[in-house]
Amino acid sequence: MPYDDLRSFLAVLEKEGQLLRVTDEVLPEPDLAAAANAARRLGDNAPALHFDNVKGFTDARIALNVHGSWRNHALAMGLPKETPVKDQVEEFARRWDTFPIAPERREDAPWRENTMEGDEVDLFKVLPLFRLNEGDGGFYLDKAAVISRDPQDPDNFDKQNVGVYRMEVVGRDRLAIQPVPVHDLALHLRAAEERGEDLPIAITLGNDPIISIVAGTPMAYDQSEYELAGALRGAPAPIATAPLTGLDVPWGSEVVIEGVIESRVRQYEGPFGEFTGHYSGGRRMPVVRIDRISYRTDPIFESLYLGQPWTEIDYLLGPNTCVPLLNQLRAEFPEVQAVNAMYTHGLLVIISLKKRYGGFAKAVGMRAMTTPHGLGFVSQVILVDEDVDPFDLPQVMWAQSAKVDPREDVVIIPHLSVVPLAPAGESGMISKMIIDATTPVAPDVRGNFETPVKDLPEAKEWAARLRTLLDTR
Ligand SMILES: Cc1cc2nc3c(=O)[nH]c(=O)nc-3n(C[C@H](O)[C@H](O)[C@H](O)COP(=O)(O)O)c2cc1C
Repeated sequence: MPYDDLRSFLAVLEKEGQLLRVTDEVLPEPDLAAAANAARRLGDNAPALHFDNVKGFTDARIALNVHGSWRNHALAMGLPKETPVKDQVEEFARRWDTFPIAPERREDAPWRENTMEGDEVDLFKVLPLFRLNEGDGGFYLDKAAVISRDPQDPDNFDKQNVGVYRMEVVGRDRLAIQPVPVHDLALHLRAAEERGEDLPIAITLGNDPIISIVAGTPMAYDQSEYELAGALRGAPAPIATAPLTGLDVPWGSEVVIEGVIESRVRQYEGPFGEFTGHYSGGRRMPVVRIDRISYRTDPIFESLYLGQPWTEIDYLLGPNTCVPLLNQLRAEFPEVQAVNAMYTHGLLVIISLKKRYGGFAKAVGMRAMTTPHGLGFVSQVILVDEDVDPFDLPQVMWAQSAKVDPREDVVIIPHLSVVPLAPAGESGMISKMIIDATTPVAPDVRGNFETPVKDLPEAKEWAARLRTLLDTR
């Protein structure tokens, strides 16, 4: 059964032993963030954390690390919790093939229970805000889906965007938001500002787990995240109409915030410890004015710790960054076998492929850099043969160490665009690198690759036999 809201997902996590309730009293700072930081350090099976006894807050409920392990990611996708990561990516790709699945509009959304409007709007009365890292400049909403429409084509459902954007709380009814230039919200805002208009938006917190996944997926501009949610759920995604803006929002969210990004207004925000493992610095960013908040009674405030990778965001953005790149590359190059884009939202990508002829792998590497996501992210590509699993890093390192002749196989392209947050870049520019770790094929005849050692044909059967012997010890 797909999850219609966060609460039903938390219940399943709990049943599966993947949710830890912390009922002892804790401090909002540093305990909440430190606990979520520590959860990941427990390894790939880490649980989600739920707090309901936070000093200084009445009735606060806080969920952290909800997607923060491969087990939790598998359960979010409705898969058995032991599903290996490579199988999770393959299943994601298989379900994407059923895209689009139209959403289902529902009435009586649970967030209609309570409302604040106009002058009474006060985020501090609804959310138990707390800071994450020592150097953060303030409180952030960092696991929120932001919904906006294309001002030039507002009735086009597919161009309506749902994206995760982190926002600093800069007042009881004000947020500073960071839409990086390659993302759809930045395109919507630019179009609105060119018309001299504010951009209406809705911000939803405490979403069902698939909404968080699709909102972080680098889809094509006119592909609907709700229709991908349907494909991933295997059932239409429940949506509702936001009362003030008329935007389509998830039916099951805990909190729905509505307002506008004010046209041509900028305000300092930051620093914030980002997904790159570095602080953003303080920068002038667009400003959201909040006009209405709708929320469930005693809403669960879902947040996410991020810092030095890996943290929850890397699980959340892992498979959903791999699959669109895989699909976009395969559409032109069916030789592409698998794509691992799980490092820092795809700043580094590993691609396995069959080769047509000498030099082919490098060309595929260049294409990865010009996909919609690649334009702003992919700055290093490692290409490996089809018999190397890009998710198995020792195999990738073997390919790189044994097959690369640096002078012939490494290409550096100077001064291309990258997300301004990339620590190695400068003002949104960086050199990009392709490492071709595939075996040369004609007409590229170099090296001594004629006599590779392969696994023995009987090794597969022996692996099964050894496993049985181990299990029956
Ligand atoms: C927790 C989290 C925070 C994020 N914060 C931002 C952000 O502040 N700005 C941004 O442009 N992208 C941010 N992203 C990445 C985008 O959500 C992601 O790249 C998505 O694919 C963008 O899709 P869109 O172009 O359809 O909006 C964040 C992702 C996650 C999971």
